[in-house]
Amino acid sequence: MRLELLLAAGQRRWRLGELRQPLSLDDLVPGDGEWEVEIGFGKGRYLLKRALEVPGRRYLGVEVVSKYFRLLLKRSQRQGAANLLLARGEALYLLSAVLPSAFASVLHVYFPDPWPKARHHKRRLFDPETVDLVLGTLRPGGELCFATDFIEYGQRVAEILASHPDLTVELREGPWPDGARTNYEAKYMAEGRPILRLRARLAEDAEPGAFHPEGRAGILAATAPRPG
Ligand SMILES: C[S@@+](CC[C@H](N)C(=O)[O-])C[C@H]1O[C@@H](n2cnc3c(N)ncnc32)[C@H](O)[C@@H]1O
Repeated sequence: MRLELLLAAGQRRWRLGELRQPLSLDDLVPGDGEWEVEIGFGKGRYLLKRALEVPGRRYLGVEVVSKYFRLLLKRSQRQGAANLLLARGEALYLLSAVLPSAFASVLHVYFPDPWPKARHHKRRLFDPETVDLVLGTLRPGGELCFATDFIEYGQRVAEILASHPDLTVELREGPWPDGARTNYEAKYMAEGRPILRLRARLAEDAEPGAFHPEGRAGILAATAPRPG
């Protein structure tokens, strides 16, 4: 798969091969603003809105589908979001091999593909084997915001997170204070579909690299090629 990393409004573009890895995000988006990350941003409605509303923070979006990636790139360039960095690629690959760890204050994951069939569960973004990789983006004290309409998956995610020794998980009744965040959320709210939303906070004194009890093997497993 071709991987790209583009800095949206700065009109700069890098191929991953040109960059030292793990990436120094501070070299790409200089400043001292805290980082927020969204994985699977889709059409990017929330990420762009946040980046424009909070210029003092820096934003990283990860998306595997080129069409969405280019759509958000164009929009963010048009609107001058200089604090938004977009990476196109498979999230678990980028997290395990390319991106730094323990850098984000907030990680947003909204309506990730639920992969409902049991034989596909291993493709989920959150499972016991990948949870460390995903949470590895968060600095101590950082926070995950998550939502899904696939309630069974949401309950499983809540269970996996609640069994992490350094996380406090809080299920949320009703929408976020800022309303529907993403396109999927707006669509499902309009349809009246149940949505599970949660926030999980990593303890301030969490040791970098503290592992989920079921997750130790996952970091390597996530980088292994999938059997055809
Ligand atoms: C159901 S859509 C939700 C989009 C958006 N978050 C929303 O709530 O409107 C899931 C998104 O995750 C992206 N995605 C799925 N698997 C991914 C992966 N492994 N790495 C990065 N993005 C992924 C899809 O391309 C899609 O844009």
